[in-house]
Amino acid sequence: MYSNKEQWLQQSKLFLSNSLNSQFVLSNINTLRAVLQFHEYNYYVLNNALISDNEYDFLFNLLTKAEKENPEIITKDSPTQRVGSSLNNGFETVQHLVPMLSLENSYNETDLLDFDRKAKEASGLQEIEYCVEPKLDGASISLIYENDLLTRATTRGNGVEGDDITTNIKQIRSIPLSAPFSKYGIRQIEIRGEVMMTKEAFQKYNEKLTQQGLATVANPRNTAAGSLRIKDPKEVAQRNLDAFLYHISYITQNNTHKVNTHSQQLNLLWNCGFRSTENEKFVAKNINEVIEYVTSFEQKRDDLPYEIDGMVIKVNSLLLQEQLGMTSHHPRWAIAYKFKARQATTVLNAVEFQVGRTGAITPVAKLEPVFIGGVTVSSISVHNVEYIKEKDLKIGDTVLIERAGDVIPQIVKSITTARKGNEHEIVFPENCPVCKNQLFKEEGEAVWRCINIECEAQVVEKIIHFASKDAMDIKGLGDAIVRKFYEKNLLKDIPTIYKLNLTNIGEIEGFGKKSIDNLQAAIASSKQQPLNRLIYGLGIRFVGETTAKTLANSVEHLLEFKNKTTDDLQTLEDVGTKVAKSIHHFFSNESNINMILELEQLGLQLKNTKKQTINIGELAGQTFLFTGTLSKLKRNQAEALAEQHGGIIVSGVSAKLNYLIVGDDAGSKLEKAKKINTIKILNEEEFLQMIG
Ligand code: IVH
Repeated sequence: MYSNKEQWLQQSKLFLSNSLNSQFVLSNINTLRAVLQFHEYNYYVLNNALISDNEYDFLFNLLTKAEKENPEIITKDSPTQRVGSSLNNGFETVQHLVPMLSLENSYNETDLLDFDRKAKEASGLQEIEYCVEPKLDGASISLIYENDLLTRATTRGNGVEGDDITTNIKQIRSIPLSAPFSKYGIRQIEIRGEVMMTKEAFQKYNEKLTQQGLATVANPRNTAAGSLRIKDPKEVAQRNLDAFLYHISYITQNNTHKVNTHSQQLNLLWNCGFRSTENEKFVAKNINEVIEYVTSFEQKRDDLPYEIDGMVIKVNSLLLQEQLGMTSHHPRWAIAYKFKARQATTVLNAVEFQVGRTGAITPVAKLEPVFIGGVTVSSISVHNVEYIKEKDLKIGDTVLIERAGDVIPQIVKSITTARKGNEHEIVFPENCPVCKNQLFKEEGEAVWRCINIECEAQVVEKIIHFASKDAMDIKGLGDAIVRKFYEKNLLKDIPTIYKLNLTNIGEIEGFGKKSIDNLQAAIASSKQQPLNRLIYGLGIRFVGETTAKTLANSVEHLLEFKNKTTDDLQTLEDVGTKVAKSIHHFFSNESNINMILELEQLGLQLKNTKKQTINIGELAGQTFLFTGTLSKLKRNQAEALAEQHGGIIVSGVSAKLNYLIVGDDAGSKLEKAKKINTIKILNEEEFLQMIG
């Protein structure tokens, strides 16, 4: 879309260095707008920021200031015009230029062969070429551009009429406010697509809600759909939505630029600066190639950064599309191929209250077991009182549950119309279900807690967490064994793991010599685990694996934290007020310090032995991501190796990624990385050579 990157970067620098010269800014105001549009495109469409957030903000403020002082120069597509006001957001009902149809569904090979047969019969052709692309699981939208300007954005509504949501749509930075359609001879165009919330944005949004003590949301799709109808556009902007465009429903275009296929239309949208399904599309010569592609894509479903619920197969030739036409419900030239369902209804039989290692009480819904997307689900966390209230859950209710991608199962809603009258309220306990002490809730939090630190449930959960795979990784000391040992008084707290009387264990049923030897060896070797694992294992509230690594790298010895103030702690990356307070609180507690001293006496590693390696490691601070199947190493071994050399493992492809290590059958991550030229792509062999 933008060919001369260097020139745009040069222009950006020119504005940064002439920022005080208001005459310069004013006389080049159109270029400044174009520079900002260029950076929005790189950041939001290509996922490849070319300047820092601060520099972008600086340029944006320069434009805002100039426009404020000279309101007559404001243009409709100025980047400042995304900022909407909530006053005029009444959602007027408007008519689509062309009705928004649905798609016919297919579920297996036979359905697809049937679709192909009908298309062949209707057209008289022997073989039909198809364009296959993901079926995005978001909220559908329709956009109109006239003379290159975004003039209207609409929800699907009833298919004929929808709500005018232009102000909200302008908050989505991957939707350009103006696009160079005139370059392709297009005066007016209506485009269809899907507003999406990526898995990452969804997770971050839920983390934010949890931090604010608010109920979390069930899935990215509902959140994206809900976001479109929010009255406050600023809130929409906060949700980091994305939009993918996949269909041109109406176009006025001169003949010189006309394209002949759907695949070329996707390419046109991409060239005009939109995120489209261009990069995931596949042109299949015949239905057999379609079947092969959709089946293989289903395996990759969880690797995509966003949710899809199937594939869409479209006749590629636009002429043939026209010939085949449509019913009042769906086009005859397209069909959706639905992946295995990940939603089902079942009955909420009961709610149990569990006590976590920080004393948080989590209500867990016990469900009539139901099979979705390859697993049987029989219990689901229902988080807290607010969540239960918001979802209007009652015992005996029929509930709709969903297992979306790698997101854990959630209750989407209760089906209130199925109530028979014998359902009853979920009563939250006032006392801890285990130690019976009174429960408390902090102001502004949604979670009730048992604050008795001797509460049996908490002690057991703390031991389980300490020994778990991601913490001290003591094999043979899993959930059930810890509970059993605790019952038999063999374990009382974390240090007792290292004082276990192995003779007594021999008397426990199912414990032979071999399992005792293995357990003994696992406990002994866990003493050498690096400091970050120990910190994570201590179960300090809000300290996850990443924060534990940051903390471990900031000290020579664990007990240095005793003397650190919350201000000291906040200088560390990703440690905010809340996390700092929690760490400070933990290390101010005498019994925690005594426990740490006892662990040191028992031979655990409290010194940071890794710190030096990280500082001198030649990969210090470089980010890594592994994709596909490696042949020599397991994924976690390769990650550990990169970390040992100072590398940082990240979860997705973005401009912040330095190295993508590619194994066999690498999918979309590789494709995405190829488009960001700062990412170095290596195979396993090259990676191993690099780290020597
Ligand atoms: S094409 C006239 N392509 O799925 C045909 N739709 O269940 C227009 N959807 O109404 C639709 N991904 O909202 C098309 N790649 C894709 C899609 C897609 C998701 C949605 C769309 C459609 C619904 C049907």
